[in-house]
Amino acid sequence: MSNKPELKQDDPETTGHSWDGIEEFNNPLPRWWLWTFYLCIVWGIGYTVAYPAWPMINSATAGVLGWSTRADVQAEIDAVNEANAPINAKLEATELTEISADANLNSYAVSSGAAVFKTWCAQCHGSGAAGAKGYPNLLDDDWLWGGTMEDIHTTVSHGIRNTDSDDARYSEMPAFGRDELLEKEEIDQVVNYVMSLSGDAQDASKVEAGKVVFEDNCSSCHAEDGTGDIYQGAPNLTDAIWLFGGDYASLTETVTNSRYGVMPAWNERLTEAQIRAVSAYVHQLGGGE
Ligand code: HEC
Ligand code: HEC
Repeated sequence: MSNKPELKQDDPETTGHSWDGIEEFNNPLPRWWLWTFYLCIVWGIGYTVAYPAWPMINSATAGVLGWSTRADVQAEIDAVNEANAPINAKLEATELTEISADANLNSYAVSSGAAVFKTWCAQCHGSGAAGAKGYPNLLDDDWLWGGTMEDIHTTVSHGIRNTDSDDARYSEMPAFGRDELLEKEEIDQVVNYVMSLSGDAQDASKVEAGKVVFEDNCSSCHAEDGTGDIYQGAPNLTDAIWLFGGDYASLTETVTNSRYGVMPAWNERLTEAQIRAVSAYVHQLGGGE
């Protein structure tokens, strides 16, 4: 017995498909749907011609409009640079010591300097500028090479002990142990003396002997009283702020082999306005003189 429904007079044709006796009317797709579908195909083809689309071996088709996300970013960067051109020109023209007097210029310098710092300096000095072993803390007022705007500007422009710039800050602490300038015993004594300078109690007889070693070998750079010399980048040894560590082992290593900290020069890589901005940023971090 068949339960197939009767076809009515004005029913459309069936497709001829039948599942368990259920058949399918052959209704045409609505016009509006069909046209939207064709339009999408045309638009899709047009899009792949106009914009980068088809993958090739090493790249993709560029598209006749020549649009790219890189070009977009470049255009945005150019627009920002253009908008900042007048204030950058002003920053370059203003005396270093006068920048902080102009509130508007100073706030521009400090905020753009912070961005420069995060991009170029944070790898070594830390994102908060607190430094790490061998990389000085820029937040305190303990300076190797000086903390005035001019000093910082020179350090950043030319760097320290590098071969990039002929004007790099330079001074070389001798490797007293490696180069046999001092006996092991004398190094032991002078390290004890150095530790005593910042209040670490040490063997009094070694400190006594170490004082003599210090006067003969170290005071020319670190000063008679151990407070250092910014003209030679020789750190203050009396303040308990250590670049390479203040324990006996670290100090012995420093005196034996010397450290020779190197910082790159930035004058070839950054614009003068960027160097001034990052100098202003560092200067206002807390230790600026
Ligand atoms: C590759 C690591 C490195 C990078 C990057 C770097 N520095 Fe330095 N910087 C050093 C080292 C190392 C020293 C200390 C050198 C020494 O022992 O005398 C130093 C020293 C300094 C000093 C001197 C501090 C003082 O006490 O006198 C300043 C200022 C400074 N850096 C600022 C910057 C700024 C600003 C940038 C980014 C534009 C930067 N540095 C990027 C490694 C780096
Ligand atoms: C020619 C100059 C010079 C002489 C001489 C010299 N130093 Fe130095 N010293 C420096 C400089 C410059 C630094 C900075 C570190 C670097 O090389 O990166 C330094 C760093 C140090 C440090 C590391 C301080 C820290 O914060 O970690 C110690 C300790 C030190 N010197 C001890 C001595 C002792 C002890 C002597 C003598 C036996 C001596 N120095 C002789 C120039 C000198």
